[in-house]
Amino acid sequence: MTSGGNSLTAAVLLIIMMKVFSVLTQSCPSTMYQAQGLCCQKCPAGNRVKTDCTETAHTSCVACEDGTHMDKPSGLKQCTHCTICDLSFGLKENRTCTSTLDTVCKPEDGFYCVDVAAGSCMAAHKHRQCQPGEYISQTGTAFRDTECSDCSNGTFSDGTLKFCRPHRPCESLNLKLIRPGNATTDAQCEEQDQDNVVPIIIGCLLTILVIGIVIVIVIYVKRKTLCPKRGENNREQ
Ligand SMILES: *[C@@H]1O[C@H](CO)[C@@H](O)[C@H](O)[C@H]1NC(C)=O
Ligand SMILES: *[C@@H]1O[C@H](CO)[C@@H](O)[C@H](O)[C@H]1NC(C)=O
Ligand SMILES: *[C@@H]1O[C@H](CO)[C@@H](O)[C@H](O)[C@H]1NC(C)=O
Repeated sequence: MTSGGNSLTAAVLLIIMMKVFSVLTQSCPSTMYQAQGLCCQKCPAGNRVKTDCTETAHTSCVACEDGTHMDKPSGLKQCTHCTICDLSFGLKENRTCTSTLDTVCKPEDGFYCVDVAAGSCMAAHKHRQCQPGEYISQTGTAFRDTECSDCSNGTFSDGTLKFCRPHRPCESLNLKLIRPGNATTDAQCEEQDQDNVVPIIIGCLLTILVIGIVIVIVIYVKRKTLCPKRGENNREQ
């Protein structure tokens, strides 16, 4: 009996010593955390600790509040605030925050990412704007800036196009070259007949209009004289 009692005491002592040892060497298993000399069960992702475990009770957990998250099991008493994609950094949301996953940000349209951390964009810059005399040789994306290249000889661009337009070939149009083109501006030719074309077109349109009106009037008058008031009499019967 005494030996049985002794071995029980020894076992209890051993357990207490192991507990103390594990606390001293901080060796709670990875699914547990240390609180007040005990190894407590961690709360699952999406939750935080409400109260630590005791000798007699398990850890008590509660779900993360809106706007906070916990992405892995932990013994923390606070969930982490969700990242806000800051418009003033050129960012918008690519994935909304959930209780287990933080927000993922991406560049706004017209911006590209300059700083990525954990798959989320932290800062973005506006795409560069090509200058007159350049064309957009590579359209910007969320990850890459726009690339610009110079227009080659004989072409021009205002910087908003993906190509440069060739200068107007005045000579081959039998027109007089007034001002040669450069990389930003088209060549200018003398428009020999242009001054006459517009009045002629307007004259033609006016003539057609007048003829049309005359025809309408003639038809109207003819109808009135052919069937005077007959329509009205028929309707009354
Ligand atoms: C947005 O999320 C999708 C899906 O995770 C991903 O494929 C895409 O690259 C992300 N967009 C940006 C701009 O980061
Ligand atoms: C374009 O013009 C410049 C100056 O006139 C000349 O130096 C250059 O060789 C030309 N390039 C081509 C591709 O014709
Ligand atoms: C191109 O021509 C325009 C109009 O003549 C002029 O204003 C501009 O300065 C010229 N640009 C260059 C690079 O020569």
